[in-house]
Amino acid sequence: MVFNIQKQEREIFDLIHTCASELGYPTYVVGGYVRDRLLARQSKDMDIVCVGSGITLAQNIASKLRPIPRVAVYQRFGTAMLKHKDMEVEFVGARKESYRHDSRKPIVENGSLEDDQHRRDFTINALAVSLNDNNFGEIIDPFNGLLHLEQKIIKTPLEPGKTFSDDPLRMMRAIRFSTQLGFEIEEETLKGIRKYKNRIGIVSKERITIELEKILKTPKPSVGFKLLFDTGLLQIIFPEMAALHGVDVRNGRAHKDNFYHTLEVVDNLCQNTNDIWLRWAAVFHDIAKPPTKRFNAQVGWTFHGHEALGAAMVPRIFRKLKLPLDHKMKYVQKLVRLHLRPISLTKENITDSAIRRLLFEAGDDIDDLMKLCEADITSKNPNKVKRYLENYTLVREKLKEVEEKDHLRNWQPPISGELIMTTFGIEPSREVGIIKTAIREAILDGDIDNEYEQAFDFMLKKGQELGLKKIDK
Ligand code: CTP
Repeated sequence: MVFNIQKQEREIFDLIHTCASELGYPTYVVGGYVRDRLLARQSKDMDIVCVGSGITLAQNIASKLRPIPRVAVYQRFGTAMLKHKDMEVEFVGARKESYRHDSRKPIVENGSLEDDQHRRDFTINALAVSLNDNNFGEIIDPFNGLLHLEQKIIKTPLEPGKTFSDDPLRMMRAIRFSTQLGFEIEEETLKGIRKYKNRIGIVSKERITIELEKILKTPKPSVGFKLLFDTGLLQIIFPEMAALHGVDVRNGRAHKDNFYHTLEVVDNLCQNTNDIWLRWAAVFHDIAKPPTKRFNAQVGWTFHGHEALGAAMVPRIFRKLKLPLDHKMKYVQKLVRLHLRPISLTKENITDSAIRRLLFEAGDDIDDLMKLCEADITSKNPNKVKRYLENYTLVREKLKEVEEKDHLRNWQPPISGELIMTTFGIEPSREVGIIKTAIREAILDGDIDNEYEQAFDFMLKKGQELGLKKIDK
């Protein structure tokens, strides 16, 4: 079959062809670029394999482009990369790889195109397009990759045990591609993942998490998480999430399966946000349900405090997964900690003070918190879903009302610690903290308005109670 070369590729393909012919290197486009183009997916990374030196070929091509682009050379890997228009084009010599048991780092030797195709992860990633005189544009497909693209199948080119034990990250990649592309993992390949799952131990956490995030960025991440669970990989790479799986029954009372519930919440949320951190918050929102699970003869199963313990678990798991330990982690923690609060605001006769407190604690993340809570409605009863959603609409309205009245988002109380110190002529001390907290609480409770005069008078009163005197200036 011939590859349908498009206008924007024509120039660079022709140039590669010219330079490769001059050097006498058989040269091909390979891997993800070919796959994505055949699937009509956007791709900005092009991999070129030549039987020769990738670095020499890249330098040769660069010298013929105007303006001459910079060539990034990675001597250690024998690769070179240049940017052309909005494409990143990477060049490498065809290689043969062999692996030791305990490492993802292969022993590399020069090889033929065939060797190079054999060392690839999946049949759909082993397709090559010739850029050579005799068969320019022809697709070279030794493992039926074209058929598998059509049948939507992920399959290893060699016996799965070989492909996966060579590079166990490929087990994660199989599941990620299946989720991203909506492809099925072929049965033997899936069996291979189950069999070799423990080999994932030699892969760095960073690489595993990159794949997890790619799964989480798809429109329906549950597909990938279920596969991770069913193959046993999730139990190794993210045991806290796997522990959500399962249902306990006692005295005829069962709780819901928190793993599938979490996945439903994640999928629901993905319809309303592309924000990866909000998506992580959904993954984590019930993470402490297993360790807080209790059975009470009167009420059945409870998970008291799972929001607080869940928030406390976030940093440890983020560290293990090599996710950033910065404001993004704090954001996830905050949403986990607050995820039950809007439900409590759906009760009748809710006070302004409860609303004010939530606004104060959630700050700018209040809208994200509401999205998470709405996604958390997974009842199978459409009437209930409707009622819960209506309740949240009311909460949103109340939040808006109080917000407009009190301006509490990112709020700073009207009296600073500095002012407390100068008013009473005191140094930084416990008293300053007590007065500041008392002012904040009085405003949040609605005892005084959120404005300077009232807060100042309140400060004087509170100071007096603590035996402090206003100094005359
Ligand atoms: N590859 C492989 N094994 C890996 C990683 C990559 O065999 N663990 C091969 C595949 O042929 C793949 C190519 O190298 O198509 C390029 O890898 P990469 O850029 O990581 O992936 P893509 O397939 O391009 O897909 P994506 O960019 O979505 O990761």
